[in-house]
Amino acid sequence: QTTRIYYEMVMNMACRTKKELKELVKEARKCIAHGKVADYIPALGKANPKDLAIAIQYPDGKCISAGDIERKITLQSISKVISLALVLMDRGTDEVFGKVGMEPTGDPFNSIAKLETMTPAKPLNPMINAGALVVTQMIRGDHVEERTHRLLSFIRELTNNSFIGINEEAARSEFETSQLNRALCYFLKHHKIIEEDVETLMDLYTRQCAIEMNCLELARMGMIFAMNGLDPDSGKQIIPENIARICKTFMVTCGMYNASGEFAIKIGIPAKSGVSGGIMGAVPQKFGIGIFGPALDQKGNSIAGMKLLELLSETYQLSMF
Ligand code: DON
Repeated sequence: QTTRIYYEMVMNMACRTKKELKELVKEARKCIAHGKVADYIPALGKANPKDLAIAIQYPDGKCISAGDIERKITLQSISKVISLALVLMDRGTDEVFGKVGMEPTGDPFNSIAKLETMTPAKPLNPMINAGALVVTQMIRGDHVEERTHRLLSFIRELTNNSFIGINEEAARSEFETSQLNRALCYFLKHHKIIEEDVETLMDLYTRQCAIEMNCLELARMGMIFAMNGLDPDSGKQIIPENIARICKTFMVTCGMYNASGEFAIKIGIPAKSGVSGGIMGAVPQKFGIGIFGPALDQKGNSIAGMKLLELLSETYQLSMF
């Protein structure tokens, strides 16, 4: 009975939200002017800073959305949560956390600063670039194609869409310009945390970051995390509960990099951002959120996307704290 009342409450909210969501998007659009599209990866610089879209995916299949939902987003750092889940499923926690830590850094996503102060030079967490590169190295397979295919198959299952693919232009653009990530790799290779060929790893990592989808598909991935790894459509446990829990915890503590503390206080939803302007949110046991807004704040998070989540969290009291 309690479950049924709770379920009805969630559904009522969905019906109300359909109209209200548009209002929230309208309100959040106001801060777009203060943001800037990322251009350190040249292909990302082509995005329209005025775009803003949101989708909310409920476990019963219902989906509501507003804004420019037809736009496609490359996952960028959002992919770090997915590669982490895959690698944890493949290798288990002991092996993975032997190579990457569990602590927030308070530094920007591409910072090299803390690596030098750590002994061993293990990256502090899997959400910063240094940690994500170590995780990507652990994706199993004989060559880059096979490893990319394994990650893509997993993402196709999470989105329930077998057409999810890679934006080759974005992958190439990052591969050709990503000297800072190469520097992180070489530093970690010196310390034997990374062992494989740096160019091979960069090839795989830039393909991973260039996996492309719209915000409805992003919301569906968020919903699977919200449901602790269970796909309510197929009844299949796509991600073991414990691994989904670990991923969501990283989303709370490190998902927004050096904005994670403020994000937890103001919004309180496990979420992961990417420099393409995407944000994937997972409201535990309720729904998944997919946002696209390429104008970023100074910390590399979608400026209107963050505002939208703040408005959503306030309006519907979504904070888990
Ligand atoms: O490695 C990079 O710099 C990008 N492919 C991803 C960084 C990113 O998305 C940071 N998120 N806000």
